[in-house]
Amino acid sequence: MRLQRLWLTDFRNFASAELELDEGLTVVIGRNGQGKTNLLEAVAYLAELGSFRGVSTDDLVRAGMPSAVVRAEGERDGRSLLVEAEINRVGRNRVMVNRQRLQRSRDLLGAMRVSVFAPDDLAVVKGGPGLRRDYLDATLVSARPRLDELRLALEKILRQRNALLRQSGGRLSDDVAVTLDVWDARLAETGEKLAAARAALVERLAPAVAAAYERLAEVPSEVSVRYEPWWRQEGLAAALVVGRDEDLRRGVTGVGPHRDDLELAIGGMPARSQASQGEQRTLALALRLAAHEVVTDEAGSAPVLLLDDVFSELDPARQAALVRWLPEGQTLLTTAGDLPAGIAPGRVLTVEAGTLRPGGPGGGDGVDGGAEPADADGGP
Ligand SMILES: Nc1ncnc2c1ncn2[C@@H]1O[C@H](COP(=O)(O)OP(=O)(O)O)[C@@H](O)[C@H]1O
Ligand SMILES: [Mg+2]
Repeated sequence: MRLQRLWLTDFRNFASAELELDEGLTVVIGRNGQGKTNLLEAVAYLAELGSFRGVSTDDLVRAGMPSAVVRAEGERDGRSLLVEAEINRVGRNRVMVNRQRLQRSRDLLGAMRVSVFAPDDLAVVKGGPGLRRDYLDATLVSARPRLDELRLALEKILRQRNALLRQSGGRLSDDVAVTLDVWDARLAETGEKLAAARAALVERLAPAVAAAYERLAEVPSEVSVRYEPWWRQEGLAAALVVGRDEDLRRGVTGVGPHRDDLELAIGGMPARSQASQGEQRTLALALRLAAHEVVTDEAGSAPVLLLDDVFSELDPARQAALVRWLPEGQTLLTTAGDLPAGIAPGRVLTVEAGTLRPGGPGGGDGVDGGAEPADADGGP
């Protein structure tokens, strides 16, 4: 899919902005706090109807204004696509795809796809298992939107099973036992399906992550990505039986896909605790690029790749390697500093205090440091 044009009204610090995107690489340059991340957040909003920074939609509306509008025009599978979102402080938000109002936000899944890399992605490597599960499940849903139902079903079953555990007061009365059997059966069925889908994804993801890591690091690296929950050997139904007493005592479900981890290792050592900061950053980026690649394969067209402040995370050699290995398709990349050698954006924009203009800072093409300026700088 490709986006050609984007309009923002009262989104974050943009009062009003209109921009054209290159069909390949568009680079947005700006000092800190000028609106680079805000711009990517606006694009991602159209795909996800939420902020990748995890803030409430209220924060996305420009201070003092009642509502924000983000609109994008592009094409997907040879058809034109117009997505328009209105974010309201009061009342419901609205989304229109090709001028048709969506009834449920889930209907948007797959209409527009983005892959987002942001500096916070480091937490996928360094943080707790929940972030890795989120990474996995988000990739799963991006590749196969229908699997979102499985994820939601699991959440619902867990909520109900946990409520029952708490109500039981830790005692397994006959009534509780009967109801718990029902929830266990459902949890086992749904949980097994989700885990199988995750495992199948990881089988494709693992070699892609290892390859992306090696391309960035430019040294042979033994990167492994594994999803092997212990309960899958015996099955979730059996694991729930074993854990039942403990679950009753604690009032929560202790085993299942909601507790799994995605194990990341470099050179046989856990990446979370043993890798250097540089290795962790490279791995975080490799995870994102690999997910982008797998989703592109599955969906038959590349999502729009959004790379926020990606160079600040990498040393010059890895910056250059990233530029060399940027995936095909459309990329929107932000940077606060100089552009690495060898980068050839089709379009360069500068953002300053929520105002966009074509070209690099100082009105030139913005590409220095020996890089070849591209032919179109996007402005008259
Ligand atoms: N809802 C909002 N209304 C007005 N300004 C906002 C809003 N949300 C964020 N901003 C402003 O946007 C700026 C940060 O933009 P951001 O895109 O994060 O910067 P950067 O270019 O460093 O990525 C800050 O100056 C902040 O005050
Ligand atoms: Mg930023």
